[in-house]
Amino acid sequence: MTIFSVQSTIFSRASVVLLSSNGLKRFSFASSFSSNAVYSSPLPKTKKRRCYPIVSAVDIAGVTIARNDVVRDDDPTNNVPDSIFSKLGMQLHRRDKHPIGIIKNAIYDYFDSNYAKEFEKFEDLSPIVSTKQNFDDVLVPADHVSRSLNDTYYVDPQTVLRCHTSAHQAELLRKGHRRFLVTGDVYRRDSIDATHYPVFHQMEGFCVFSPEDWNESDIDSTLHAAEDLKKCLEGLARHLFGAVEMRWVDTYFPFTNPSFELEIYFKEDWLEVLGCGVTEQGILKQSGLDNNVAWAFGLGLERLAMVLFDIPDIRLFWSSDERFTSQFGKGELGVKFKPFSKYPPCYKDISFWISDSFTENNFCEVVRGIAGDLVEEVKLIDNFTNKKGMTSHCYRIVFRSMERSLTDEEVNNLQSKVRDEVQRKLNVELR
Ligand code: DAH
Repeated sequence: MTIFSVQSTIFSRASVVLLSSNGLKRFSFASSFSSNAVYSSPLPKTKKRRCYPIVSAVDIAGVTIARNDVVRDDDPTNNVPDSIFSKLGMQLHRRDKHPIGIIKNAIYDYFDSNYAKEFEKFEDLSPIVSTKQNFDDVLVPADHVSRSLNDTYYVDPQTVLRCHTSAHQAELLRKGHRRFLVTGDVYRRDSIDATHYPVFHQMEGFCVFSPEDWNESDIDSTLHAAEDLKKCLEGLARHLFGAVEMRWVDTYFPFTNPSFELEIYFKEDWLEVLGCGVTEQGILKQSGLDNNVAWAFGLGLERLAMVLFDIPDIRLFWSSDERFTSQFGKGELGVKFKPFSKYPPCYKDISFWISDSFTENNFCEVVRGIAGDLVEEVKLIDNFTNKKGMTSHCYRIVFRSMERSLTDEEVNNLQSKVRDEVQRKLNVELR
């Protein structure tokens, strides 16, 4: 079940499926949680990585992390490829001249000027977190699909690459922080298209209230928090987008109740820009906050940047091509990106009989492992089951570089590797 959603919004018209005791229940969590709503076997470990140079260590906020600690061929739970390991520590959000950093700084400016710098900022917390931090602490149910190996990168059974910045809420509360913004890179196994990339950036906001904050008003504490939250985020949207039309949509997140999404009217369409809500009491109580309410929000920086800077393809954020990087300057919000070229795409189809363990995320990981950022999109274009009950999928792979023309030979070579590896690793039968 793929419901298209732009990843970096993250939120949530896209639904996920929770396999609950009373049947199939859908709820939204985050748009990238995820297309294939089934538990499935992990991608068999790749021994040979094709497109990426093997990086042996990365530096995250001054701490050196060795490849062997994160990419483990000997652990069947580990599904972190080298292409993902090499992204740890890149921290695009800390580059002031990068669109992601420019937006982060614009949001900081909004909070600094409206809340007298009360919001503390965290932006170099390690993306390697425990499953407790990523899921349990924020009340993600034990059978939530986002916990599957199909959706999340696992280092080992207790350790993941965070799939949202909400993973830091509880630890910061426990350490005594009450108003904060957490920005960071987050990781999700996903499909491939112009708006989905396995690494993207989020900002989490959190604000705790005490009884004296709502006692003065006549309304109850939850309503007080919800109203304050909406006022804050409407102001933020105006700060970023100008005088836009907005609307609130009720939704579901495991960590908030009530939960909302904010949509803005942009280029003749409603666009989700963030998810938020009043924090579940369970989260506050775990941190010893028995008499409080809080609000929280999470937003996807790529989504905002694609809209504000007119950036057409999410891969561009990772480009070091001067023709991209030189177009942005510190503090320059909303400069319109001028595409420097559009090289021709090359389409290749691949058909195979799938097995029960097949998932589209696993297939996409194989394609990315071989073609890296030369793959623009992977689309299911045909799907049928024959009389014997065998199911066939045909995928169209769009190869296109953003920086140069690809040669036929190069693309044929990539496609032939995809065919080999898909057969070898995914237990499918090529047609
Ligand atoms: N963690 C959510 C996601 O990744 C976004 C989110 C929604 C964060 C609601 C929040 C929140 O703090 O209250 O999609």
